[in-house]
Amino acid sequence: MRLLMVAYPGAGKGTQAEMLAAHYRIAHLSSGALLRAEVNSGTRIGKLAADYLRRGDLVPDELVFEMMRIRVLEAARHGGYVLDGFPRTIHQAEAAYSVAQEIEDVELQAVVYLKVGQNELRQRLRARAGHEGRTDDDDIAIAHRFEVFETETEPLLAFYAGRGILLEINGEQPVGDVFGDIISAVDSLHISG
Ligand code: AP5
Repeated sequence: MRLLMVAYPGAGKGTQAEMLAAHYRIAHLSSGALLRAEVNSGTRIGKLAADYLRRGDLVPDELVFEMMRIRVLEAARHGGYVLDGFPRTIHQAEAAYSVAQEIEDVELQAVVYLKVGQNELRQRLRARAGHEGRTDDDDIAIAHRFEVFETETEPLLAFYAGRGILLEINGEQPVGDVFGDIISAVDSLHISG
C-alpha cells in the first residue's frame, strides 16, 4: 500500500498518517517531522533547512530529495508507505514520478486530500502552538504556510485527480470519523500489494 496525504497545514495529515501506518502496517514518512529532527540534531541538512522551516517556506528540493529518496525506496520494498508532506509541489511530484517509472512497485497508489476550512485550521494550529511550541506555529508563519500551500501545493490536487488517484475526505470531523472515511475510500480502491 502506497499512500500520500495532501492538505493545508493543520488539516490532520500527521495525525491520520500515523493511524494509517499502524492500520496497514506500512511506514509513516513525514518530510516535516524528518526535517525538524534534522534541525534538532544539528545535521548539515538541519542547518541548511532551519530558516526555511521557521518562516514556513519550502525547503529546497535537493535537500528534501536527499533526505526522502532512500527512505521512500526502502519503505516501498518493505510493504509500503504513507507519505505525509512529500511530494509537496508539482516539481517534486514530477521528479518523484520519473524516479518511480524506472522502479517497480514504488509509485503512489492513492492520494488522500483532507478538506478543512481555514477558521478550523487556524484554531487547531493556535491550540497546538500552546502545547508543542513548533517554531512555525505563530500567526505570521501560519499565514505564510497557507499562502505557500495555495500557490505551491494545491496544484497537486488537479495533478493527482488527472491520474485518477485522488480521494477527497472531509477532514473537519472528529479524528476517528476522518480515519473511518479514509479507510473506506482507500479500501474501495481494492489496492493489492
Ligand atoms: P509539515 O510538518 O508537513 O507541516 P504542515 O504541512 O504545515 O502540517 P502540520 O504538521 O502543521 O499539520 P498536519 O496537517 O500534519 O496536521 P496535524 O495532524 O499535525 O511541514 C513543515 C515544514 O517543513 C514546511 O513548512 C516546510 O518548511 C518543510 N517541508 C516539509 N515537507 C517539505 C517538502 N516536501 N518540500 C519542501 N519543504 C518541506 O494536526 C494539527 C493539529 O490539529 C494537532 O494538534 C492535532 O492534534 C489536531 N487535529 C488533527 N486532526 C484533528 C481533528 N480531526 N479534529 C480536531 N483536531 C485535530
